[in-house]
Amino acid sequence: MADTLPPAAVDTEFYPPADTFFRAHGATALTFDDVTLATLYSDVLPRDAQLHTTLAEGLSLNIPVISADMDTVTEARMAIAMALSGGLGLIHYNLAEKQQLAEVSRVKNHVHGLIQDPIQVGPDQFIGDVLELIERKRFSFSTFPVVDSTGKLIGLLPGHVVKPRYAKRKVAESLQPRSQVYTVNVKELAADPIARADRFFTDHAGIHKLLVVDDEDRLQGLFTLSDIERITAEKGAWLKPARDPEFRLVCGAAVSTHRKADGSLDGERIRNHVGAMVDRGLDVVAVSTAHGHSAGVGEAVRLIRAAFPGLPIIAGNVTSASGVEFLADAGADVVKIGQGPGSICTTRVVAGVGIPQLTALYVASQAAKAKGVTLIADGGITKSGDLVKALTLAQAVICGGMFAGCPEAPGQIMEINGKVYKQYRGMGSLAAMKAGSAARYGHVASDTHRKAAAEGVEALKEVSGSVDAVLAQLVGGIQSGMGYLGARDLPALRSKARYIRVSPAGLREASPHDVVEIKAGSQRTE
Ligand code: XMP
Repeated sequence: MADTLPPAAVDTEFYPPADTFFRAHGATALTFDDVTLATLYSDVLPRDAQLHTTLAEGLSLNIPVISADMDTVTEARMAIAMALSGGLGLIHYNLAEKQQLAEVSRVKNHVHGLIQDPIQVGPDQFIGDVLELIERKRFSFSTFPVVDSTGKLIGLLPGHVVKPRYAKRKVAESLQPRSQVYTVNVKELAADPIARADRFFTDHAGIHKLLVVDDEDRLQGLFTLSDIERITAEKGAWLKPARDPEFRLVCGAAVSTHRKADGSLDGERIRNHVGAMVDRGLDVVAVSTAHGHSAGVGEAVRLIRAAFPGLPIIAGNVTSASGVEFLADAGADVVKIGQGPGSICTTRVVAGVGIPQLTALYVASQAAKAKGVTLIADGGITKSGDLVKALTLAQAVICGGMFAGCPEAPGQIMEINGKVYKQYRGMGSLAAMKAGSAARYGHVASDTHRKAAAEGVEALKEVSGSVDAVLAQLVGGIQSGMGYLGARDLPALRSKARYIRVSPAGLREASPHDVVEIKAGSQRTE
C-alpha cells in the first residue's frame, strides 16, 4: 500500500503550481475552460481583495481591466467610463488622426476639478454676443468670469442676465462687480485643491462658482460646485477612478504602423501623431498588431521608445517567449498576449495559427519575468472566471466583446425580432480593414478589395447594461476568485494559483445543469 502523504503534498500532487502544471501539459495548448483553479486556505474576504495593478512606471490602474482598441468598443465615452471605474480604455485608430486626438482630449479634459482655462468674456461685449457664443459652442452653462485685456478679473456675468431680453446691454453694465465675486488665491490651493473647494462650497450655501486668481488678480481657473460634488462622491465609490498625477482620467490610444509608398515605416508620421497625443496628456500608447514578433512592429516600438523615453508602451500581439523578449528589447513596457482567442477572431481558422490563451500566457510569462515587463491577456474573456484565470499569469486583461453591447461603446442600437443589438466587428474583418485597420493584419488598404483574407467577423452583441454595471459583475467575480485562493492582492493571486485540467464532464458540471433555469445568472458560460 502506498504511504499516506501529508495533506499539503497530496494537494500539490493533484493541484500543482503553474510551472509544474503547464510544463506537464507541454504538448497540449490549454485555454480557460480546460482548466480550473483549486481553492486554498483563506483569511481574505472577497470585498477586501485589492485589485490595484502597475503595468509600467507611471501607469497604474485600480482594476486590471482594459477595453479593447477596436472601432466598435473604445472611443472617448468608453475610455471615460473605464477610467472612472479604475480601468483603462484604449482609443482605436480606425479614425482620422485629428479625430483620434479629439477623442484623447475629451477623456483627458473630463471633469477636471479645476477648470484651468475657463471661458471668459470681456466688459465691452454685448449680452447678445455671449448668447451667440453659447449657441455656437453649444455650452451648457451661462455664467462667465469677466476679465480685462490684461487678464485681470473685473467681475462675474451671472447666468440670469444672459437672456435675449438683455441682448443689447453691455457685459460691463450687467456683471456682478469684482468686490462681490468669491475668489481664492492659487497659492492657497496647496496639495488638495478639491478639499479646499469643497470646504468653500460648504461654507457658502447657494454659491456655485469659485474663481481662482493669482497675486495680480489675474484669472487662473474656476471651480464649479457640480464638478466638486461629482469628484467628492467618487471618493466614497466602490471603484475608484484611475487618474494621472494631475487628477485627469487616464487614457490610452492605439497607433497604426503607417508605411510609406515604398513600404518603409513612416517614422515621421508616427512620431508626430504620438507626440500630438502626448501633448494632450496621453498616458500610454499601444502598438497593436496581429503579429507583434515581426520586423515592422519592432521598428515601430524602437522608434516610439527613442522619441518618447518616458511614455509607457504596450506592444503586441505575441504568444511566445521569444516574442515577449523581442518586444521588451525593442522598448515595450507591457506586452499583449493573444493570437486568435477573441470572440470575433478567425485567425486560427484562416491562417491556421495561434495558441489557446492560458498556455500562451504561461509561455509568455516566462520571458516577461526575465525581461521585467508586464503582460496583458488580450481576448477570449466571456465570464469573470476567465478573468481570474488570466490574472494568475498576467497583470491585466483586455476585453472587447464583454463591453461591445454597452451604451458607452460606439455604434447604433438596432432592433431585430424584438431584441436590441449593437454591432461588434473584428478589426481584421473586411469592413474594419477598409476603415483603416488593414496594417494591423499586415495588409495595405487597397488589398481589402482583392486578396486580403479577413481574420475577423462582423457580428452583433445583445445590448447590455452600462460599463459600470458590467464591471461590477467582473470585478465581483475577480474578488470572489481571490477570496477562494486567499489572495489579498493580484501579485498574491499570481504566486498562489494552483491548476488542474477539467474533463468534458467536469466542464458540464461547472455550468447550471439538470435544472430548468427560470432566471439566467448574470454571466453565462456558453
Ligand atoms: P474579445 O474576445 O474580448 O476579443 O471579443 C477582443 C480582442 O480580439 C482581438 N481582435 C481580433 N483578432 N481578428 C483577430 O484574430 C480580428 O478581426 C480581431 N479584432 C480584434 C483583439 O486583440 C481584441 O482586443
